[in-house]
Amino acid sequence: MDPAFPELTEDVIDRMNGAEPRLRSVMTLLIRHLHAFVREAALTHDEWRTAVDFLTRTGRMCSDTRQEFILLSDILGVSMLVDAIANQAGDGITESTVMGPFYAGLQRELKKGDTILLREERGEPLLIKGRVADASGAPIAGARVEVWQAATNQLYDVQDGNQPRGHLRATFTTDEHGEYEFKTVLPPSYPIPNDGPAGQLLERLGRHPFRPAHVHFMITAAGYRTLVTHLFLAGDKYLGSDAVFGVKPSLVVKAARQAGGMTLRYDFGLAGS
Ligand code: BEZ
Ligand code: FE
Repeated sequence: MDPAFPELTEDVIDRMNGAEPRLRSVMTLLIRHLHAFVREAALTHDEWRTAVDFLTRTGRMCSDTRQEFILLSDILGVSMLVDAIANQAGDGITESTVMGPFYAGLQRELKKGDTILLREERGEPLLIKGRVADASGAPIAGARVEVWQAATNQLYDVQDGNQPRGHLRATFTTDEHGEYEFKTVLPPSYPIPNDGPAGQLLERLGRHPFRPAHVHFMITAAGYRTLVTHLFLAGDKYLGSDAVFGVKPSLVVKAARQAGGMTLRYDFGLAGS
């Protein structure tokens, strides 16, 4: 069958002649793919109205503390794709993953070995330590290591009025050997916010909203590309079906049982900027 109304696509693209080059090339691709999608799906008026209603509800769900469009991009794999294009990994360079909505800005600065807990948690104690180095393995002293994770009730402090702000998040600086170390508890797997359109879509698609247990890291050092990543705990039942497709095998780590709790060691490699 001939494509429906082919000259329409060319007409829309031709009318973008006045746009600056990057915008024009991105919008040209968007129009080509969007029109091809509408043709291939043979989208009906009803389906298009449903899609517009869905996007309208997605917008209405957004506030200063909730970004439903990013959540939608996360569950459709777009966030991970954009990240993969921006952060090509390589030998000695740690892979990146999604930032997620629960980064809460720069947190209190702690010393090597301190705990990131502001109150007790029932979870198993966990010591996380390792080194930050460049791609050749040379240690990076003075790197800023920001960490954050969910509490054992599956909520981040910013989602939970019962947790003190700053609980389970902190900032460290690597020592002269590039080392960092902090105490925490084993993080839980948890559902992403699923009380809005993104959650409804997951349900309609027969998908669960869970992320495997992880600790977030953002590592910054002058002269290096900022690394936004997680460490995932080996053995988690959601490693193969993360709701936001954020798992990479190189980021899955086995914690070792030792007297007094678990220990997890991970060395990060930063790419030059
Ligand atoms: C997170 O790991 O904090 C997260 C990432 C993407 C969507 C929701 C939560
Ligand atoms: Fe998270």
